[in-house]
Amino acid sequence: MGRHFLQIPGPSPEPDAVLRAISATTIDHRGPEFQQLGLRVLEAVKPVFGTTNPVIIYSSSGTGAWEGALANTLSPGDQVLFYETGHFASLWVEMASRLGLKPEVIDSDWRHGVDAEAIGARLEQDTDHTIKAVCCVHNETSTGVTSDIRAVREAIDRAGHPALLMVDTISGLGSADYRHDEWGVDVTIAGSQKGLMLPPGLGFNAVSDKAIEASRRGGAARSYWDWEPILAANERGFWPTTPSTNLLFGLEVALQMFAEEGLENVLARHQRHAAATRAAVNAWGLEVLCLDEPYHSPVLTAVLMPEGHDADAFRALVLDRFDMSLGAGLGRLAGTVFRIGHLGWINDLTLMGALAGVQMGLRLSGVPVAGDGVAAAMTVLEEGAGA
Ligand SMILES: Cc1ncc(COP(=O)(O)O)c(C=O)c1O
Repeated sequence: MGRHFLQIPGPSPEPDAVLRAISATTIDHRGPEFQQLGLRVLEAVKPVFGTTNPVIIYSSSGTGAWEGALANTLSPGDQVLFYETGHFASLWVEMASRLGLKPEVIDSDWRHGVDAEAIGARLEQDTDHTIKAVCCVHNETSTGVTSDIRAVREAIDRAGHPALLMVDTISGLGSADYRHDEWGVDVTIAGSQKGLMLPPGLGFNAVSDKAIEASRRGGAARSYWDWEPILAANERGFWPTTPSTNLLFGLEVALQMFAEEGLENVLARHQRHAAATRAAVNAWGLEVLCLDEPYHSPVLTAVLMPEGHDADAFRALVLDRFDMSLGAGLGRLAGTVFRIGHLGWINDLTLMGALAGVQMGLRLSGVPVAGDGVAAAMTVLEEGAGA
């Protein structure tokens, strides 16, 4: 009885209005009604990215949009500098290798954001500019740590290096502050199933003029991912292949909801829910994985399980007893971390329900719980009530 609690860090719960829009009959994607929808959506999506440039929308998951970014701008053999903030950054590195690029990785402990100084120092050594791009994850979904992308751009500029800056904000967009143009990002990669509150199925590339020029000059062999035919068709509101019409119906509604609430308020709401969640974790006496105070993710909170307790067994119990899905620890964090998603169509009481489920699950799993995390979270939410 009641709705399943989908508290993973994406896919996130969708608004009823979005689901209703998606359930409409599919229309002719070469017809005038679709054309108007296409033109409206392609324009309305830009503010969320903080860009006035084109945003390419693929029928794909986020991984497809990663590939689109790399294939359009880089050629096999190109050297690319990655900063490994966590599991998703490492998967992007693997993709780059498989595409014949030469990734160079700055490693980290997966508990901090990107160290822009380290990127700058590496670029300063690269005097003959063999590094063609710098790739970072803005909101590392596996760790709950965000990164300062503006600082990365400044470091690249200080080094006087021409590398492209590519940023994965697949789980950040629509929940964490993001500014494609202002931060000088060349390709921003996003997906539909996180902050945009849609089902999976749309991948995004927001592009700078420099990225478009790079794609026109070269890039890898590509067909489906090629920006050029998509940009050309998009000018008239169409796509070269059959688009995900119904997800675009939903996207339009989600973007209208953002516009009505105001992007600043959307971001503040996520910060508030993240603060309440951290208050709960602290009160339980557990440890938040992120060690960078300013870079706690507003999207999710990754929690370290105390020694001797298995995070996956705990998550299984919570699912079984309370019908709530929590995020698993990924990669090297498997079994030692669980993740609480606080994104998508949730409100204060949804979050309180989720935290109550975690607290009950911890107790039932025999995890020593120091105090009442639910009460601590309520205090944070009461203070910020009406915000
Ligand atoms: C930061 C990040 N990058 C990449 C991906 C991969 O996206 P997808 O699973 O939609 O292909 C995810 C998925 O969760 C993600 O969170």
